[in-house]
Formats: sequence, structure tokens, C-alpha cells
Amino acid sequence: MQDLIERAARDIAGSTYAIALTGAGISVESGIPPFRGKGGLWEKIDPMEFAHIDSFLRDPEKVWNVLIKEMKGVVDEAKPNDAHTGLADLERMGKLKTIITQNVDGLHQVAGNTDVIEFHGNFAWQRCMDCGGKIETSEIDLSEIPPRCACGGIYRPDCVFFGEMIPPDYMRRSQQAASLCDIMLVLGTSAVVQPAAYMPVVAKENGAKVIEINPENTPLTGRISDYIILGRGGEVMNGIIAELEKLLDA
Ligand code: OAD
Repeated sequence: MQDLIERAARDIAGSTYAIALTGAGISVESGIPPFRGKGGLWEKIDPMEFAHIDSFLRDPEKVWNVLIKEMKGVVDEAKPNDAHTGLADLERMGKLKTIITQNVDGLHQVAGNTDVIEFHGNFAWQRCMDCGGKIETSEIDLSEIPPRCACGGIYRPDCVFFGEMIPPDYMRRSQQAASLCDIMLVLGTSAVVQPAAYMPVVAKENGAKVIEINPENTPLTGRISDYIILGRGGEVMNGIIAELEKLLDA
């Protein structure tokens, strides 16, 4: 693994427009379970029953009780880990322009990244389905489920449910960043959910190097990504930052 970490540090040192695409795996070391694989959320509950917009519209109480309350508990407690801070260090070193994240936990911003496209929205806010008014998730009163706005409308997370469109502005900005970058770090995503999983393809087609960081291979491995560093996000990012500091000091 060390030789690939050194290779990634050299690639990043020589790049002028690096970006990252992240997924649930980057937050696993912060205590947030992923969706797929061992211990994944979708092993416990069926996403079509609890994370599809039609299910929410049919039975918001059920979705609030099973999915949203649990997410709130987990996200409220989570702090950035070494993988998040590594990406924030890369930005501070002038080496990372943008993060496209599928995560809704807000941890990239807490770590210090300033240009984060939240492809699937953000769990920090709830939006009234009637008047559109917003309230911070931390402020929401859970004594009544589903929680309601003063206007009587039901609150929903400001996230993208299955069956909903990616906000067009996020889509446009992500495609633009993917087509302009010369390196895309793909960290902690199974790369099976579209259209996010298409961003590395856009990067590759436009000449970028695609570097995966993941303990497991993905559908991108060996096809779209130039190489994969098989490891956990925190340890790999610590290694990359240490090597990059040596290169930039030299
Ligand atoms: P997944 O849960 O599908 O994939 C998590 C990935 O992280 C897997 O490839 C793991 O091997 C990897 N992983 C696990 N631990 C890791 C670690 N410590 N460091 C690095 N990687 C690790 O999550 P996503 O790809 O983000 O969408 O899923 C995409 C979308 O599917 C989510 O945004 C969500 C979900 O359904 C919606 O809810 C709309």
C-alpha cells in the first residue's frame, strides 16, 4: 500500500486541479454506518420502503420513525475523522479545489473544506413540504412524529430521496468540476448509485487520473480508475498528507 500512497502523493503534487468524490465509506470511521456491505443500513431496512420519496409521501410517520430519527441520532454525534481532515489539509495546501459528496452529514464542512457540492442534499436542515420554510435538524421538536411546521406542513430532510432529481445546480457544478479536473480522488463510495457514479467516468473521459481509496474494489476498479489504494480512508489520507508534505517541502 505504501508505494501506492507515495504514487498518489506524487500525482497530487503534480496536479493543478484535483477534486474528490466521496461516499458513505469516508464517514464510517466517524461512526456513521455505510448503506451497503457488512453492517450497512440497507441490510437492515429496504431503501425502497424507507428512502423512496413515494414511501415518504405515503407514510411520513413510518419513515420518520425508522430512518430519519435514527439518522439524526447518529449524525448529531459524528465528528470528522482523519479522512475528512486529510481532504481539508489538501485544500489548505492548495491541492484540492472541490469535493462532490454523496453524504448528507456535513462533515466535510466541519473539517474545513469550503467548496463542497452536496449531491444528495444535507441532513442539517429540514424543509416544510407545504410552505418550504426551513429549520435546522438540531432544532426540530421530535415530540410529534412526523414533526410539523407552524403552518401545519410536514417537515422532510433537505436531502434527495430515491425517486427524486439531483438539484440541477449541483448536477451542473459537479459535471463541470469532473470535466475540468486533472485528478479525481474517489473515496469511500461503492460507485453503484447514479448519477454520482458517473462523475468519475466524466473525469476519465476528459483526461483526468482517477484514484480510488477504498478497502474494497468497486465497479470502477480496473476499468475507470487508474489505481485503487486498498485501505481505510483515514490511514490512507494520513499517509498521503505525510508524503505530500515531504514533496512540497523538498
Ligand atoms: P455505500 O454504502 O454504497 O458504499 C460505501 C463504500 O465505502 C463501500 O465501497 C465500502 O467498501 C467503502 N468503505 C467502507 N469503510 C470504509 C473506510 N473506512 N474508508 C473508505 N471506504 C470505506 O455508500 P455510497 O457509495 O455513498 O443515496 O452510496 C451512495 C448512495 O447510496 C448514498 O448517497 C445513498 C445510498 O442509497 C441516497 O440515499 C439517495
